[in-house]
Amino acid sequence: MKRILTGDRPTGPLHLGHYVGSLVNRVELQDTYDTFIIVADVQALTTNFECPEMLAGNVRQVTLDNLAAGLDPGKARIFIQSLVPQIAELTVIFSMFVTVSRLRHNPTIKTEAKQYGYTDMTYGFLGYPVSQAADILFCRADLVPVGEDQLPHIEATRFVSRRFNELYGQVFPEPDAMVSSVSRLIGLDGNAKMSKSLGNCIFLNDSPDDIRKKVMSALTDPARIHKDDPGHPEICTVFAYHTAFNPGEVDDIEERCRAGTVGCVACKKRLAEVLNGMLEPIRERRLQFEKPGVVDEILRAGTAAAEAEGAITMGMVREAMKIDYLPRG
Ligand code: TRP
Repeated sequence: MKRILTGDRPTGPLHLGHYVGSLVNRVELQDTYDTFIIVADVQALTTNFECPEMLAGNVRQVTLDNLAAGLDPGKARIFIQSLVPQIAELTVIFSMFVTVSRLRHNPTIKTEAKQYGYTDMTYGFLGYPVSQAADILFCRADLVPVGEDQLPHIEATRFVSRRFNELYGQVFPEPDAMVSSVSRLIGLDGNAKMSKSLGNCIFLNDSPDDIRKKVMSALTDPARIHKDDPGHPEICTVFAYHTAFNPGEVDDIEERCRAGTVGCVACKKRLAEVLNGMLEPIRERRLQFEKPGVVDEILRAGTAAAEAEGAITMGMVREAMKIDYLPRG
């Protein structure tokens, strides 16, 4: 069975951008791939090192979001990055042959540094693509379902894998990225990306009422003043969400928007209904997994499985690099 590794930073609840960008794919693929899901708490520290106390709650929240979205703990192993020591070990080894200028040119690092207003970067922030390569390669994963913004990191991982194999001998596969059909979801405010730090998100754990309020506040075509003005769906946030979440009706909505026969309010009401319908089974599953101790038990088992896999990989790495000086007696 080929293997998948993917996951999220536990910086807050997961939103619809995560859902269409990656969660849907991972849920669908868990039957045909051996699946590992990382809760990347160390990576979350790259931008939150001053408040590590926020991790404990968010690690559980993100795990719960994955389970609610349909990840089956009987199939997929969900684990905590910082509790798998081999990921840290591999990060150090890989960092020997990844140059600083390669990291500086990583487009996602550049965009994020700008977004956070960094004039200087910490070693950990600049180097997190190396750590992400270790996240993926510690279990020798073949496939990484991710949103489009992650592609430079998967490219970095492929480089690390190739370079390691070239230097020391074949240990790692060269993993492929898998980008979903809706790889980037715009924010409620029309911003190019739904993102917690931009405050323009619909979260998977929003209540039906939150959803209605947020959808009613979403940015539409500003040129439409009266509800029978002809609309421009290509610049409308609500239309983008109909495209992503309401494929059955989207053509009809587009036609009626352009003709001015459906107003923005009606169009938004329909979207809120569709989203609430989609989120209902997610809410039901969440209730199941929310019982005390359930999430911790799932994380404990997933982390033990990840660590066992990491130990196998580190054995291969030490042997390939000839740093297995003291084989067990
Ligand atoms: N960088 C990813 C994000 O911000 C999270 C992540 C960490 C990840 N390690 C990973 C994704 C390994 C895929 C594979 O969403």
